[in-house]
Amino acid sequence: MDLIPAPQRAARNADGHLSLDSGTGLEAGPGTEGVARWLRATLGAATGLPFPEARDHDRRIVLGIEPGLPAEGYRLAVTPTGAELAGGGPAGLFWAAQTLRQLLGPDAFRRAPLPGRHWRLPLVRIEDAPRFRWRGLLLDVARHFMPKEGVLRYLDLMAAHKLNVLHLHLTDDQGWRVEIVRYPRLTEVGSWRARTKFGHRASPLWEEKPHGGFYTQDDIREIVAYAAERHVTVVPEIDVPGHSQAAIAAYPELGNTDVIDTTTLSVWDTWGVNPNVLAPTDTTLRFYEGVLEEVLALFPSQFVHIGGDECPKDQWRRSPRAQARIAELGLADEDELQSWFVRHFDTWLSARGRRLIGWDEILEGGLADGAAVSSWRGYGGGVAAARAGHDVVMCPEQQVYLDHRQDPGEDEPVPIGFVRTLEDVYRFEPVPPQLTEDEARHVLGTQANVWTEVLEDHARVDYQAFPRLAAFAEVAWSRLPAPAERDFAGFEGRMAAHYRRLDALGVAYRPPAGPRPWQRRPGVLGRPVDGPPPIK
Ligand code: ACM
Repeated sequence: MDLIPAPQRAARNADGHLSLDSGTGLEAGPGTEGVARWLRATLGAATGLPFPEARDHDRRIVLGIEPGLPAEGYRLAVTPTGAELAGGGPAGLFWAAQTLRQLLGPDAFRRAPLPGRHWRLPLVRIEDAPRFRWRGLLLDVARHFMPKEGVLRYLDLMAAHKLNVLHLHLTDDQGWRVEIVRYPRLTEVGSWRARTKFGHRASPLWEEKPHGGFYTQDDIREIVAYAAERHVTVVPEIDVPGHSQAAIAAYPELGNTDVIDTTTLSVWDTWGVNPNVLAPTDTTLRFYEGVLEEVLALFPSQFVHIGGDECPKDQWRRSPRAQARIAELGLADEDELQSWFVRHFDTWLSARGRRLIGWDEILEGGLADGAAVSSWRGYGGGVAAARAGHDVVMCPEQQVYLDHRQDPGEDEPVPIGFVRTLEDVYRFEPVPPQLTEDEARHVLGTQANVWTEVLEDHARVDYQAFPRLAAFAEVAWSRLPAPAERDFAGFEGRMAAHYRRLDALGVAYRPPAGPRPWQRRPGVLGRPVDGPPPIK
């Protein structure tokens, strides 16, 4: 069957098949309308079959909700007379439909039917449910903008892999990507930069061409609705108080104006950690409350990500205003000032029925009560947070930063960071062994992060994300044994079929034998200069 991610239980009942043709009906029980719509639209496009409402004697695909199953769990049974898909809820049923698509073969992943294809399903019985409830992918649309169409495409790719959280990194030093109606300069000024460092940090090359773009609020509404139809939650990230130069370029009063002349700042055109951070003033707090009011209206997600990573404290040390605030609040130092800043938004979000999540730096200086942590600098932040009773999403850079190179070879394009192969990702374990069972319950799940400093277009994003995202999806969904005992050879065997699916989807993945000639990068861009940093 070659399913990816591997289901909990799957058995082939007999050698026969169920053939699908234009008479194959669809019987959609209560609560299954959304999945029926997706199935007709997507499998209908690929197969050319209409899937009409089933009549009495038709062979049929039956969709139902069975509350006894876990909400995201499902059962799928194919017999010679029909296929029965039951989900614990609409999400579980949707994952069943994704499995059905894989069973139909790679051409079921195309957008129009190929001539002469016959559609048939093997006679199977599958019972399945995910290991983690947070199976995430971060797309950094700030460093390089991904036009809306690309985000919708990634939502389809996520759904095909049963991933269910899209963490959208919407703001950074290099660009502000979401329309905020009350602050139009955030996108008028903040969404464009004059030029871009080409390649990695140490590259001496620049692309002397403006880069940018942003999503209108209607674009975001469309993205969120498209995601919801695929049972994916979009978690927005508005990064504060660091990674904010694009916002400061648009509204200079947000910066530390008593330290530098912030009117001279532009949207940043290079990579790295930026010293120009937000001023810890009431003006800044009110401004970002205004931003978040609009963000909450657009994104129904329970979690809202406020960043909190890589905020150098040098300007706060030199700023009389920041120092006065530290004194007035009775804080020990600049770390506690950042903690106060984060707590402000934790309280603000809680009062509106939402929950704050931030990068593990938000642990420094004390973590707000209800806050959750994205553990990126290693497992340490996540372990500390889980032990203190906070929820955690495990996304350590040493394991699942998919912008990092995936092979030590000379041909790897723009090879930054750690070498993390397909096998390394397959053997990634999101729950650190030192956590007790109770503490481990705070691990909501795991997330692969795709930062885009060196990924300037969707082909580069595809190359870095795939095939490793398929391995990651199995880690997040399937109940795999301990890392050393995982059957990587078996996974690779199933990948042979999965590459055909990715081909049909038009994914520009890294082939197992290495980059295709046009996927290489010549000269200085191909030199490994940035990594690897030390493992924490
Ligand atoms: C991060 O990679 N700075 C979260």
